[in-house]
Amino acid sequence: MSRDNTPLQTSAVINEAVETLRDGGLVAFPTETVYGLGADAKNAEAIKKIFTAKGRPSNHPLIVHLAAPDKFDQAQIDWVPLLTPWVRDLSEDALKLMNAFWPGPLTLVFKKEKSVLNELTGGQDTVAIRAPAHPVAQELLRKFKGGVVAPSANRFGKVSPTSAADVRNEFEGMLDLMVLDGGDCEVGIESTIIDLSSGDCATLLRPGVITPKDILAKTGITVYQPGEAKDKNLIEGLPRVAGSLRAHYAPTTPLRLYAPGRVLDALSEFPDIKSRVAVAVWDSESSLGEDGHPSAHFEEVEVPSNSTTFASRLYRSLRDLDQQGWDLILFPEPPAGEEWDGVRDRLQRACFGSGPSSSSHASN
Ligand code: TXA
Ligand code: MG
Repeated sequence: MSRDNTPLQTSAVINEAVETLRDGGLVAFPTETVYGLGADAKNAEAIKKIFTAKGRPSNHPLIVHLAAPDKFDQAQIDWVPLLTPWVRDLSEDALKLMNAFWPGPLTLVFKKEKSVLNELTGGQDTVAIRAPAHPVAQELLRKFKGGVVAPSANRFGKVSPTSAADVRNEFEGMLDLMVLDGGDCEVGIESTIIDLSSGDCATLLRPGVITPKDILAKTGITVYQPGEAKDKNLIEGLPRVAGSLRAHYAPTTPLRLYAPGRVLDALSEFPDIKSRVAVAVWDSESSLGEDGHPSAHFEEVEVPSNSTTFASRLYRSLRDLDQQGWDLILFPEPPAGEEWDGVRDRLQRACFGSGPSSSSHASN
């Protein structure tokens, strides 16, 4: 987790990764959110390899990752020249958001510049951009001197990877992939996505650790939920977001949420489960006690009751529990509050897509 024990890659390895990208190959690399599967954003053939490797439908757009100039004072970065090859109409709000949160776990959607490849935007006239903060991602992007498209480095619909080993497991036997190791991802869930492409109304497309409240406090910009956008016409026009499928981020073990004190209700959906149930409990609360399902063998697993720490460990826990052969995994419903929206969103989709047939669910 900590940057202190991050096994930063040597310059030689990063140079090799840059060569691979220039040759039209794929490179997996760490970001502060999750690991990405990168390709040259100007190379249509390389971009197609990403869709094939992930098994992702070709109309689901990708995020372009850009390097932040190496400035001691990041507030001094001039983003405009970096963005102009990619986007039209950089608004005042866009500049405020970039100055406040980049490099970092925030993706912004703009109207695209003509030359941006349709292969990466899924044919839409908008483009999603972010400048990741992880030092390995930054060094790779700076040396590459161009945009790198990078979805999360997992098979479509599956749990996103937060370590280099997760990426290798995800593509084992399928793809001989270069994976840069930058340790465990600190943030742990994907970036917040804000749509700025529809004029003056900033809309939340995917919740993450940067919340609308954080954005309002730091920039004075109001971010609307899709349903509460001022101009109702915008709602129809909202871009598609892959994460907006109901099933996503899913383990193969069935996963359900339980309301406070209602573990038995969650179990009632699974009358046949007689054996092993993993029950996640808040670390701030005492254990569930002995009143569980009489024939089920419960094992309690503590999860952090702080939203940021919970997010940083969520995918790690889901992957680890998925490997342990449980019949069912139960997680507590996250409490109300914007700071929990990112993890609530991921958990609900993971539940919906979970179970042995999760890949067929996910492509619905
Ligand atoms: O944290 C992250 O954003 C990670 C790391 C690797 O940077 N990347 C990531 O990429 O989560 P991916 O492809 O798994 O998710 C990107 C999301 C998708 O839901 C996609 O539909 C949305 O961004 N997106 C991309 N371009 C868009 C556009 N033009 N309009 C609307 N949504 C867009
Ligand atoms: Mg993803």
